[in-house]
Amino acid sequence: MPQTNFRFRNETYRDRLRLFKTKISISGFIILSFRNGRTTNFFIFMNDILKKPRKIYVTRRIEFNAAHRLFNPELSDSENSILYGKCGSKYGHGHNYQLEITLSGTVNPVTGYLFDLKELKSILEEEITERFDHKHLNHDVAELQNCVPTTEVLAVLVWDILEERFNKINNREFSLHEVKIYETGKNTVRYFGE
Ligand code: NI
Repeated sequence: MPQTNFRFRNETYRDRLRLFKTKISISGFIILSFRNGRTTNFFIFMNDILKKPRKIYVTRRIEFNAAHRLFNPELSDSENSILYGKCGSKYGHGHNYQLEITLSGTVNPVTGYLFDLKELKSILEEEITERFDHKHLNHDVAELQNCVPTTEVLAVLVWDILEERFNKINNREFSLHEVKIYETGKNTVRYFGE
């Protein structure tokens, strides 16, 4: 399970000691529970709160800045101009995009997490920030060649990229629930993978 993959990067000796003690006490609970023939008792570690499976939604927000041009070469200049207005100007324009990724699933009774947000942070840096930040979407992003890079198209692409990445995680216990992109403070696109 990804939730139990503890990492030691940037941790002090004290953090390691605390983590070690936590691991010992979790193992102790499990061993005692098995000894007593009460295998479910280790959930007491979470004060009974997670005895019943709880479906939960966890969101992480990131920002990236990118340029795009809304222009369909199959339409005439005047049709493009009517359709896209200033968004079709020749050299494009920029946006400070905000992206929210929401995962859903059941809280892990040992870690208390749905998914380790440190791991989600590095996945989003690798898959989204590196791919889109400070790029011209029409020219620099291979997946957006030969299409009009609207925020709708971007949301679908982000979904596909993350689904593919999450599918590589063994025994994952969460689903990608929503991709939400704020193109501006007023315009938002939400995609649920349908
Ligand atoms: Ni735009």
